[in-house]
Amino acid sequence: MELWALSTVVLEHIDRPMKKHIVGNWKMNGSAAFTEALVSEISAGLSAAHAVVGVTPPSLYFSTAKSKATNGLLVGVQNCHEAESGAFTGEHSVSMIKDMSADFVIIGHSERRHVFGETDEQISAKVKAALSKGLPVILCVGEKLEERDAGSHEALVGTQTKSALNGVSAEQMSKVWVAYEPVWAIGTGRTASPEQAGAMHEVIRALLVELYGSEIAHKTPILYGGSVKPNNAEALLNTKGIDGALVGGASLKSDSFLAIINAAPKAE
Ligand code: 13P
Repeated sequence: MELWALSTVVLEHIDRPMKKHIVGNWKMNGSAAFTEALVSEISAGLSAAHAVVGVTPPSLYFSTAKSKATNGLLVGVQNCHEAESGAFTGEHSVSMIKDMSADFVIIGHSERRHVFGETDEQISAKVKAALSKGLPVILCVGEKLEERDAGSHEALVGTQTKSALNGVSAEQMSKVWVAYEPVWAIGTGRTASPEQAGAMHEVIRALLVELYGSEIAHKTPILYGGSVKPNNAEALLNTKGIDGALVGGASLKSDSFLAIINAAPKAE
């Protein structure tokens, strides 16, 4: 949790650029041996890193990852259930995730929304469940291709964000990162251009200003996700309003993930 706290301190002044936040979402990939090796390699590469860095292995390998994480590498999980306990086969509660000392949870990933049918209401309940127990959240939002083509992408992402943060207090926002992940850019090799991503980040930031005021809005990291690779990371991470990256495929190899981390500009 140290780096998390540190990142908040670094954000003391809203006019100062924040440290970039780079998170790997492994999705359902890997094995125990893969997790040990990849977390060790990433950790070793972080000794001089100037970013806040995290990984989210499959939950079965969480402890394996945690035991190998050094140099401030955060380890999170990819999902949680909103209930405290009960007959929810296959799910994990926030208390269980906290019990394992996870640093954060990803909520509302597009695969949870569109493959597993999670609704805005459910995502909002999960966000509240996590924050009520002090577990930091990476809240994912993003439009599908047809919504972008129809020009409804900004309204849609605004609705997703507003709904998920409904009932979240200003104080709790210190434990929220938002990730903008356009569905059409995830796993497709088709990245949003820095202009497209930057424009949506401005929309999200403006909404956060409306909901929580300027200071909190500018302290909330807004990450971009969707085919972030070593060859496009520098342009994306140097775009105004893009505070980091949520990386899928390219986070599964230490060389490409470390290259993305090293592409992050230093906060002044
Ligand atoms: P890719 O980087 O593989 O497109 O995945 C993005 C993503 O979904 C991260 O959560």
